[in-house]
Formats: sequence, C-alpha cells, structure tokens
Amino acid sequence: MLPHPPLAPHYSSPEAKPEFVNRLFDAGAKHYDGINSWGFLGSGSFYRRWVQRRHGLKPGHHLLDVACGTGLMAVEARRILGTADHITCLDPSEGMLAEARKKLLAKFVQGYADRLPFAAASFDFLTMGYALRHVADLTTTFREYHRVLRPGGRVLILEVTKPRGRVGNFFFRLYFGKIYPGLTRLFTRSRAARDMMHYYWETMDASVPPETVLEAMRAAGFAEVKCARAIGLFSEYTAVKK
Ligand SMILES: C[S@@+](CC[C@H](N)C(=O)[O-])C[C@H]1O[C@@H](n2cnc3c(N)ncnc32)[C@H](O)[C@@H]1O
Repeated sequence: MLPHPPLAPHYSSPEAKPEFVNRLFDAGAKHYDGINSWGFLGSGSFYRRWVQRRHGLKPGHHLLDVACGTGLMAVEARRILGTADHITCLDPSEGMLAEARKKLLAKFVQGYADRLPFAAASFDFLTMGYALRHVADLTTTFREYHRVLRPGGRVLILEVTKPRGRVGNFFFRLYFGKIYPGLTRLFTRSRAARDMMHYYWETMDASVPPETVLEAMRAAGFAEVKCARAIGLFSEYTAVKK
C-alpha cells in the first residue's frame, strides 16, 4: 500500500522516489529546524515531548526513532528518558543525520523505514515524526516496525492530516501550499528549502486517508490501533505489539 500515488512532476515510478526524497532532504537539512520552529509557532519541541510522554515513553525504554531527521523527536525523548544511551535514530538522509549528530549522542544509523537493519524484538518504543508519507510502502514499513518491537512494545507515528471540513481545508491548503513554502524561500533565501516545504505540502495533499493507515497497521499484526487528532490537524497513530 503506497502512502500516496507517485508525484509525476518529481518522479514517475515508486522506485524513483527514494533518490528524489533523499536529495530534497539533504539539500534542505540545514534549514529544517528554523523552518519548523516558526512554521509551527515554536510549538514543535513541546508537542513532541508531550505526545511521547502521553503515549507511554518512560525511562528505561529502548527507543527507535525512525526518520529522525535533525533529531527533533529524539532530543525530546532524551529529556524523558534522562539519557540518550538507549536511543537509536534512523534516517536515509546523510544531511539530516549530520544535523542530528550535532545535538545528541545517540546511535545513528543510515537506512530506510521499510528495511530496518535491526534484530527482531530490539526496542520497547518506536517513534516516527512527520515522515510516514515518505516511506516506500505502508504495509512493509509496519511489518518492519512490528518485527523490531518487543512484545508489549508501542509505536507512535505523528503526522499532519488535511482537515475534513471545507473551511479548514481551504486555510490548510492556503497555509501549507502557498504561505509556508513562500515564507520559507523569503526567510532562508534557499530554493532547496522552499522545494522541501512545497513537497511537504504535495505529499500531505496526496496522502491516503487515516483509515487506510490504520488498516495497514492492523494488517501488519498490531493491536490497539488508534488515531487521535489534536486540533483537527495533528494525527497521532498508536498501536501495540501483543
Ligand atoms: C519532515 S522530516 C521529519 C523529521 C523529524 N522526524 C521531525 O519530527 O521533524 C522527514 C524525514 O523523513 C526521512 N525519510 C524520507 N524517506 C524515508 C524513508 N523511506 N524511511 C525513513 N525515513 C525517511 C527524511 O530523510 C527526513 O529526515
């Protein structure tokens, strides 16, 4: 199950997607934290910490943060765990990993969500922040998440989801489709950063609905599969490995 159909202006087949996405994040990496901070009115760190704590991340847990990017989820996880000793961060983009390495002494691994280079039952908690749209295939990815978690282990996936109502949808489209990429270009003076944020919007717009994500999680063997929505925009997908 694809997270969204191939986006023809950028790549025409699913096989060509990873290379395009990697180039995009490598080129935009040094701008990512700044853009993320003002784009979400500085709420990102607090929210990432709050949501991980609320969904059960506890000291002693071994955590895998998939699609760690510049480490925004992992830095907040370290505050909850009290140490980065049991945090593993995975991302395919060397540019993003280089930014993350500046922030914490976790274990960093270059790789893809649908091919995790870890033994079965290695982690108690698995997080993924704002990256589900970039994976090659939802079912394969969730099977991998299920495999590397220990029995009783939890997965927490954060996403931005298009609002259901017409008015909400109009403002969402205006902000993420036009204002956010436009201001990104203005503030960073970087075309690469603007392209990264425009692609961010294109994938949100083309993304499968939350029901399809939940179905793929169940099909991978997860139990207690849920999606909570904060302010109608922020989806929190959670599930447990029995
Ligand atoms: C929008 S950033 C999110 C970064 C971070 N998790 C956060 O909370 O801000 C998306 C990240 O997904 C990574 N990514 C893209 N394709 C991926 C894949 N197939 N598997 C794992 N990560 C991927 C990108 O390199 C990028 O770092």
